[in-house]
Amino acid sequence: MAVILERLRLHDYRNIEAAEIELSPEFNLLAGQNAQGKTSVLEAITLLSLGRVVRGSRDTEAIREGTEAASVFGEIQPTGTALGMELFRGRKKRALLNGLGLARASDLLGRLPSVSFWAGDLELVTGEPAGRRLMMDSELSQLYPSYFRHLAIYKRALEQRNALLKLASDRYVGDEQFEVWEAQLGESGHEIRSFRVEWCEMLAPLAAAAHGEMAPGEALSLVYLRKDEEPDLTLALAQTRGRDIARGSTSVGPHRDDLEIMVGGRLARQFGSQGQQRTSVISLKIAVLDLAKQIIGFPPLLLLDDIFSDLDEHRRARLVHTALTHGGQVVVTCTEAGQAGGELVGRSKIFRVNQGQVQAE
Ligand SMILES: Nc1ncnc2c1ncn2[C@@H]1O[C@H](COP(=O)(O)OP(=O)(O)OP(=O)(O)O)[C@@H](O)[C@H]1O
Ligand SMILES: [Mg+2]
Repeated sequence: MAVILERLRLHDYRNIEAAEIELSPEFNLLAGQNAQGKTSVLEAITLLSLGRVVRGSRDTEAIREGTEAASVFGEIQPTGTALGMELFRGRKKRALLNGLGLARASDLLGRLPSVSFWAGDLELVTGEPAGRRLMMDSELSQLYPSYFRHLAIYKRALEQRNALLKLASDRYVGDEQFEVWEAQLGESGHEIRSFRVEWCEMLAPLAAAAHGEMAPGEALSLVYLRKDEEPDLTLALAQTRGRDIARGSTSVGPHRDDLEIMVGGRLARQFGSQGQQRTSVISLKIAVLDLAKQIIGFPPLLLLDDIFSDLDEHRRARLVHTALTHGGQVVVTCTEAGQAGGELVGRSKIFRVNQGQVQAE
């Protein structure tokens, strides 16, 4: 059965001083002018879902200016579980489960699965590989706790190896010191790649189907791209150690890989028309949503942030259709409710967002 976010409470989160929101288990629409707090509400929901802020780089940026702490609480059904996140200036953030502090914010992962479409998601296709890796990491961490564990081990070992590389450029560092971290990188890196490859293989046909529906005859393909060839990553790390000391960073491993998006046999990022890029990003996201649904066995919370304004009628209709047939809880933001189309508006609980105040209509 789907997990539903029933009640949401925010304090000093971005421009929202205080808000209590009773969400519908089906469709919710947050409408308001620019800069009123709509995206902030969606971001607060993802904070409960992922344990971290999606926008910007640091969690503390979400704390309302002039205040010292922000908090977000949500009650999920059918279990009645209370999830919470507190952000502090100059102190570690804290996650709460039924009022009790969790060891790590990431312990919230998987309790409120969500898939979001952000207005900036076009960059998934047009931007650097880092954005696509972050998407893979976010999705896979929500789906598989062991993926997140391997990722955490990998990141730590990578920092340690990089620190040693810098050290080794002006003094002697024994091989055995490198070998400890390279063994960890090799093992967790191998797991990370296996998860990513398998996920991309499942994702590709779903994305191709969604794309073919919007742009008949235009083939979309997704391929996980390993940037280095050696199958044994530990060995590859030992082999590149000398070169890596000279460049001061680790040149092989999943932190350098990419998800290649091709339209009609050409790289969408380099050669795609704007329309093809938009269609492929929507297809990609629809596929991510479909796959998450398959893997977790129920529809995740679907968050659509201001995605209608930049799209033509055809693509807008496809996304509205996705929302309407989703079968789980949906929260949509837009500047004018009309953008979402009559049917979605008619079936939604509507909230007005104005200067950080959120009022149900
Ligand atoms: N830490 C913060 N403290 C106070 N205000 C903030 C903070 N971070 C962002 N803001 C402000 O909060 C306001 C609401 O931002 P938000 O992105 O939620 O707006 P929005 O309603 O989604 O607008 P748009 O329609 O333009 O996307 C903006 O004016 C933003 O500058
Ligand atoms: Mg916004």
